[in-house]
Amino acid sequence: MQHIYLKKKIVLQFYIFRMKKILITGGAGFIGSHVVRLFVNKYPHYDIYNLDALTYAGNLENLTDIDQKPNYHFIKGDIVNGEFIQKLFEEHQFDGVIHLAAESHVDRSIANPMEFIFTNVVGTVNLLNAARLIWKDNAERKRFYHISTDEVYGSLGETGSFKETTPYRPHSPYSAAKASSDHFVRAYHDTYGLPTVISNCSNNYGPNQFPEKLLPLFINNIKHSKPLPVYGKGINVRDWLYVEDHANAIDTIFHFGRDGETYNIGGNNEWRNIDIIKKLIEIVDAKLGRPAGTSLPLITYVTDRAGHDLRYAIDATKLKTELGWEPKIKFTEGFEKTVDWYLANEKWLDNVTSGAYVDYYHKMYDNK
Ligand code: NAD
Ligand code: TYD
Repeated sequence: MQHIYLKKKIVLQFYIFRMKKILITGGAGFIGSHVVRLFVNKYPHYDIYNLDALTYAGNLENLTDIDQKPNYHFIKGDIVNGEFIQKLFEEHQFDGVIHLAAESHVDRSIANPMEFIFTNVVGTVNLLNAARLIWKDNAERKRFYHISTDEVYGSLGETGSFKETTPYRPHSPYSAAKASSDHFVRAYHDTYGLPTVISNCSNNYGPNQFPEKLLPLFINNIKHSKPLPVYGKGINVRDWLYVEDHANAIDTIFHFGRDGETYNIGGNNEWRNIDIIKKLIEIVDAKLGRPAGTSLPLITYVTDRAGHDLRYAIDATKLKTELGWEPKIKFTEGFEKTVDWYLANEKWLDNVTSGAYVDYYHKMYDNK
C-alpha cells in the first residue's frame, strides 16, 4: 500500500511541475488566505490567481506579506456572474481550481439564506461549467477541488463520527447550500467526467478569521470586557483544526487525492463550547495581565441558534491511510498562537470591524 502510494507520488510530482495556472477562489478570506500564502511560497513555478469578490469577509490585508510576489495575481470578481467566470477561464486556461469562495457564517445564513444559495450553489455551478468548457477536449492533469464542510453531514449524538460515506443531512441554510454544491461537484464528475475532488473539514481556528465566528469574536470581546454570548447551554461540541493544518491538507489532497473522491479532514480535537470558552478566558486574561477568572462573569447565556447542531466529529482515517496526512499543530500551541495573533493585530481587528478596509482597497487598487 505504502509502496504504491510512493510510486504514485513520484509520478504525480512529475505532473505537478508541469502545472502552471491555479485559480484559488475566496483567497482573501480566512482559510483561502492561508492556502494562497502556502501555494505562492511553496510553488514558485505556479501562477496563483486569487479570485475574490471582497465581501465583508474578504480582506486583502491578509496577504500583504506575499502580494508583491511575481507568481501571485489578484482578480476582483463575483463567482455568481456566470458570463464573467466563463470569460475568465477562457482567458487564463487554468490547469487547476481550488474553490473556497463562499458565504460561510451560519447565523448570517439564518438571517438571509438567498445570498448563500447564490454564492455557494450558483457560484459553484458557474465555476464547474467554466472548467468543463475549457477542459472539454483534454481534462488530463486538470483538477477541480471543492472545499466543503463537515456541517453537510448534520449533527451527531454523544458518540460516533462522520465518515465520507455518512449520508448528508444538513440543518442550516449554510450547510444546505454547501451540501447542494457538493452534490453538483459530484454530479459533474459522474456525468461529464470532470476531474473533481472534495474535502469536508471541521471548524478551523487561527489568525485572520472574521470576528463574527466564535473564537475571534470572543477574544475581541474579552479584550474589551464585553459580554460573551453563549448560545443555549454551551454544550454543543465542535472539532477544532488549526487553519495551517487545513491548508496543508488541501495541498496534499489537491496534488495526491484521487479523482471523484471525498476526503474528511479533522483535528481529533473535540471541545464543548463552554469548555473552549473557559479555556479562552483563562489564556486571554493571563496574556492581558488580569487576575485569573476576571472575564468569567462576561459569559452570558443567550437564546440558542435555530437548528443548532449538537455535535460534529470527524473520522479522517481515509486521509491518513491513503495520503499520509495528519494534523501537526498541537491544540495548546495553535490556540496560544491564535490568541497572540489577535492581541497583536489590533489594527487588523479594528479595520475589519470598522469598515476602514474599504479605504485600504481603494488606495491599493483604484489606480491600477
Ligand atoms: P470566509 O467567509 O472567511 O471567506 C470567504 C471568502 O469568499 C471571502 O474572501 C469572500 O470575499 C469570498 N467570497 C464570498 N462570496 C463571493 C463571491 N460571490 N464571489 C467571489 N468571492 C466571494 O470563509 P472561510 O471560513 O475562509 O471558508 C472558506 C471555505 O472553507 C468555505 O467554502 C467554507 O464553506 C469552507 N469551510 C470553512 C470552515 C471554517 O471553519 N471556517 C470549515 C470547513 C469548511
Ligand atoms: P461558529 O464559529 O459560528 O461556527 P459553526 O457554527 O460553523 O460551528 O460557532 C461555533 C460554535 O459556537 C457553535 O456551536 C455556535 C457557538 N456560538 C456561540 O455560542 N456564540 C456565538 O456568539 C457564536 C458566534 C457561536
